[in-house]
Amino acid sequence: MGFTRLVSRMLLLAVGVAACATVYRGAPVAPVPRLLFMGHVEGYVEPCGCSEGQLGGEARRAELLRRLRAAPGATLLVDAGNRFIATGPAGEIQAATLAAAGVAAGVAAINLGEDERHLGADFLSRDAGVRGLPWVHANSDAATPPWPGEVARTMRVDGQEVVITGVSGTGEGVGDPIPAVAKVAATVGRGGRLVVLFQGEVAAAEALARAVARIDLIVVADGRDHLDAQAHRVGTTLLVATGTDGKWLGELPLPRGPLSPALVAVHLLDEAIPDEPGAARLVRDYYRRLKEARVLTGPAPRPTVGGSFTGAEACRACHADAFDLWQATPHAQALATLTAQGKEGAPECVGCHTLGAGFTGGFVDATTTPERGGVQCESCHGVGSNHVDNPTAEYGRAGAQSCRSCHTAERSPRFDFSTYGPRIVH
Ligand code: HEC
Ligand code: HEC
Ligand code: HEC
Ligand code: HEC
Repeated sequence: MGFTRLVSRMLLLAVGVAACATVYRGAPVAPVPRLLFMGHVEGYVEPCGCSEGQLGGEARRAELLRRLRAAPGATLLVDAGNRFIATGPAGEIQAATLAAAGVAAGVAAINLGEDERHLGADFLSRDAGVRGLPWVHANSDAATPPWPGEVARTMRVDGQEVVITGVSGTGEGVGDPIPAVAKVAATVGRGGRLVVLFQGEVAAAEALARAVARIDLIVVADGRDHLDAQAHRVGTTLLVATGTDGKWLGELPLPRGPLSPALVAVHLLDEAIPDEPGAARLVRDYYRRLKEARVLTGPAPRPTVGGSFTGAEACRACHADAFDLWQATPHAQALATLTAQGKEGAPECVGCHTLGAGFTGGFVDATTTPERGGVQCESCHGVGSNHVDNPTAEYGRAGAQSCRSCHTAERSPRFDFSTYGPRIVH
């Protein structure tokens, strides 16, 4: 290589370095704020652990948020609604837990969804943490006591004005979302952004986008299970849908100008994300509180049809062999699985891990009815008292269909009667 060429190379290099320096030092790029979105959590505190590969949970979400927030630029976390689902004393513990998790996660706005409205203004006002969430809702009918929260929240993130409101497209106790949002839209300043948290169907959110063109973004808690944000545009409005159970968190940078579907990223809350210790403690406390409050003893049992539950012990007298074979299967230990984790007091767990939970003669709680723990004969063969009284009458045809009520696609994705059936033969 000749000397001149070498020099010109070096010059070029030097110019290149200088050019870079102007980009990175001379004129700093303003960080782009990011909207993080979720919705339709419906009481999903953590994956149950019934099988591997399950998504979601507060403890993973807290860790993911911590990581996403380590990147430059402000973040704004929003929840499109339907966070709470359980009623009664269990519901209060669930709501308090999910409210505390929301506060710890720094949620900036949460829509008051159909599920929340169903629980009632009184329920939402009782607990200070629940009441204090940054609820937004523009089309709720008036209630006594008043619904907590406000019509819209205005925030400034990295110099941008962002107005966030919430509406429900379905359910009782709400008015037409279109005029409600149009009213909020009229208050948004020039250059400001309007974000609508929408609980309801995507088609109804699209109708809203067509009617109120000023909306920049609609986050739809659609209640359908999907692992992508299904981002699409209606006019200049971007729509994203949240899926169910908080299985993933959406991320949308908010650069100046119109928002495009290509900007949207989805972060699955999978096993690769460890639990954040603070949120994991909240989840553990949740199960402890359910157990200590003995919420399972509260509701009156529902009646059964065709007799009542008698328990496996009553079958043993005449079906000793079947009993012994059954006792050696994991079914017989299904309550112990929960107890080992301190989760035997949770309504969302006992349904499939015990016999007849919530029904007359069925499981009440681990203290009152330990003998009804586990998946028992009658879980598959049906209530047995009539058969015990009259063994010759028609009873107890069981088959693949009797497994599916518990072995759901979500909890038992590998279930196949031809491989699972032989493992419980008795
Ligand atoms: C008093 C004795 C007795 C008790 C207690 C008893 N069974 Fe039976 N069971 C029988 C007899 C006898 C038959 C056979 C009836 C026939 O073939 O007509 C039978 C049949 C069955 C069958 C087969 C039905 C079929 O069509 O092949 C099932 C399933 C069954 N019992 C389940 C249970 C369960 C579950 C319990 C406890 C809730 C139970 N049994 C308690 C005596 C009993
Ligand atoms: C009432 C709910 C319920 C019903 C009905 C039910 N199961 Fe289960 N099954 C469970 C639970 C819960 C477990 C996990 C038990 C544990 O280890 O805690 C389980 C575990 C199993 C396992 C062991 C899986 C493993 O990985 O070790 C097999 C096999 C199985 N079930 C087969 C069946 C078949 C076949 C049917 C239908 C004939 C059926 N089950 C019906 C709830 C149910
Ligand atoms: C809809 C029914 C259902 C509900 C509700 C349910 N489970 Fe399960 N669970 C199952 C079934 C079915 C299996 C067995 C899955 C398999 O092996 O294919 C299982 C297995 C498990 C296992 C693994 C057992 C083992 O030894 O492999 C754990 C742990 C568990 N469940 C915990 C929970 C907890 C905690 C909850 C509540 C948050 C819960 N389950 C709620 C149906 C259910
Ligand atoms: C997980 C579901 C499940 C559980 C739990 C279960 N069974 Fe069964 N049982 C079945 C299925 C499936 C069959 C085979 C299909 C049929 O014959 O109905 C069967 C068959 C039977 C039969 C008829 C056997 C034959 O020769 O045809 C009897 C009797 C019986 N079970 C009694 C019991 C008793 C007693 C228990 C509890 C100790 C029990 N089962 C627990 C699902 C279950």
